[in-house]
Amino acid sequence: MVVLSTILAFLPLIQVALCASIQLGRTGWTATADSFNPGNEPAKALDGDATTFWHSAYAGTVDPLPNVITIDMKASFIVSGVSITPRQDDSSNGNIGQHTIELSTDGTNWGATIANGRYVASGTWADDGSEKVAQFRATARYFRLNALSEAGNRGNWSSAAEVNMISTVAPTYTAPSPSKGLWQNTVDFPIVPAAAAMLPNGKVLLWSSFALDNFGGTSGFTQTAIYDPATGVVTPRTVTNTQHDMFCPGISATFDGRIVVTGGDNAAKTSIYDYSSDAWIPGPDMKIARGYQSTAIASDGRIFNIGGSWSGGNGGKNGEIWNPSTNTWSLLQNALVAPMLTADRAGVYRADNHGWLFGWKNGSIFQAGPSKAMNWYSTSGAGGTTGAGLRSDDGDAMNGNAIMFDAVAGKILTAGGATNYQTDDARTNAYVITIGAPNSTPSVTKTASMSFARGFANGIVLPDGTVFVTGGQSHVEPFTDTTAALTPELYNPSTGAWTQLNPMSIPRTYHSVGLLLPDATVLNGGGGLCGNCGTNHWDAEIFVPPYLLNADGSRRSRPSITSVASTVALGKTLGITTGGAVARFALVRLGTSTHTVDTDQRRVPLTASGSGTSWSVVVPGDAGVVVPGYWYLFAIDGAGTPSLGKVIRVTPS
Ligand SMILES: *[C@@H]1O[C@H](CO)[C@@H](O)[C@H](O)[C@H]1NC(C)=O
Ligand SMILES: *[C@@H]1O[C@H](CO)[C@@H](O)[C@H](O)[C@H]1NC(C)=O
Repeated sequence: MVVLSTILAFLPLIQVALCASIQLGRTGWTATADSFNPGNEPAKALDGDATTFWHSAYAGTVDPLPNVITIDMKASFIVSGVSITPRQDDSSNGNIGQHTIELSTDGTNWGATIANGRYVASGTWADDGSEKVAQFRATARYFRLNALSEAGNRGNWSSAAEVNMISTVAPTYTAPSPSKGLWQNTVDFPIVPAAAAMLPNGKVLLWSSFALDNFGGTSGFTQTAIYDPATGVVTPRTVTNTQHDMFCPGISATFDGRIVVTGGDNAAKTSIYDYSSDAWIPGPDMKIARGYQSTAIASDGRIFNIGGSWSGGNGGKNGEIWNPSTNTWSLLQNALVAPMLTADRAGVYRADNHGWLFGWKNGSIFQAGPSKAMNWYSTSGAGGTTGAGLRSDDGDAMNGNAIMFDAVAGKILTAGGATNYQTDDARTNAYVITIGAPNSTPSVTKTASMSFARGFANGIVLPDGTVFVTGGQSHVEPFTDTTAALTPELYNPSTGAWTQLNPMSIPRTYHSVGLLLPDATVLNGGGGLCGNCGTNHWDAEIFVPPYLLNADGSRRSRPSITSVASTVALGKTLGITTGGAVARFALVRLGTSTHTVDTDQRRVPLTASGSGTSWSVVVPGDAGVVVPGYWYLFAIDGAGTPSLGKVIRVTPS
């Protein structure tokens, strides 16, 4: 029986984040654990008294981690998440860090509600007393929380003051159709990620600001986490050595896979993350302090940077460029920001934010938006600016998305956005821009509109050349989830049509991130980062596109790349050995994501010769098309099913 229970005053997060949700009444429920200390029995996690708690044995013999607490709800419920109240006394011992969450309908088969052996939720929670929420959607009677680490690494202990199950008021639950893709599992983070970068080692770097769940000021440090999709492990880290609060940055990935993060709360700073040494390295200050600028890597490996009045002062945020050889920034005084300003009612503070930049041929940068005017920037000498016309009948499209889904053909999809940065209606408009020679006027075709108006969404190009647009909201209002678009859409360039896919559980609006993962699934996470605001999302949901699923929801068998060189130079031939039949190949550059902008992702379809399991592809020779750096190589079979992405390095020569 579902009982509406009063949401406790100290659980504001649930009230807002899951507004259509209720906590299930727990009468008659039982809790068991692998270990408890006398006086801290598992039932203390169900007693409605947050001053009492379950704690694994700590007096005498300690039971080493992992610890597990299992709840029997005595009947099946449609559950949409779990909330864990950590102990509320003056000790933090036993706060659960790394964890996995399992559900069962019979208490024996824990795989029943877990797609492909994956946990419905897993990750790492922050080491504090605030409510921890893991969201998912399933039918279950039993719940099991595996505590894998103590959040402060203080000892082999686990504790929880209260465990509540969250349900929706929906009386029935219809499992989503796999033909529309599945939101498969949730990854819990110890931060509210507002920025993310895919690393060449297959891991994901994420960060918030000085605080785990808030931004502001010039604190000189950043809360980060690294998520390893292969193991599910999330590792938190506070980065202090670059003296840089990296909230609201520009992000670009270099030819050698380093992540260059500029500006934001500490507006002049540059920080560089080197995955190969897992080190953050201070870079030189920019010539112009910035926040909400965009950066893009040019075909010669330098990083172009423009805009960014949100931080470091208003206006005059013309271009500058970072040279990796000299590790210096230089002004490009003729790369002018004025032609790319929107007509935002908040003025230049908002008008020069989040440029849609694409590094292109011969060192050029194409700016596709969000202003309705498009521009070419030259990065040679003192830089240059050449108008590229209007984006057809589109208006200013701040916080919309622009995705280069076919770099060989110069094709960019743009979708959504609003005239003003905030407190405005977003649009459904979508366009395909085709760029050619630098400084030439591109052609712009209005394509079918999305079904849902979106600003603050994320757009991710998939290996097969379709574009997944996810999240956002129809009335753009930072730090709210009202009017959130929960239904993602997939754009097919060959038909010019959008298809609605299965809805997400967790809204992804302002400050959300999206990245293509190595297994051709999509991570869509974060949103909020607003302190005591109620719309903080300390997690990501993983979306499995339809191309990986059979009609019954099981995973398709997929082609494989059994052998390929780890490095290839532009214009050279890559030999590939595959397992299983293959129809085509594509490269997708590893993405970086913050505030709707990802200037690193792009897709390059490859022409293959060969047959059976032995193939060769020629990598296009232009560094403005195949921008050197780290790319996924995917093999795709005749049914459109992609292989796992092999990360390979493309070098300039
Ligand atoms: C937990 O116990 C294991 C095995 O005895 C030990 O190696 C580890 O250091 C302990 N962890 C902590 C946090 O004390
Ligand atoms: C490349 O750009 C440079 C500098 O703007 C210019 O001088 C040169 O003509 C361009 N080359 C081509 C092939 O367009």
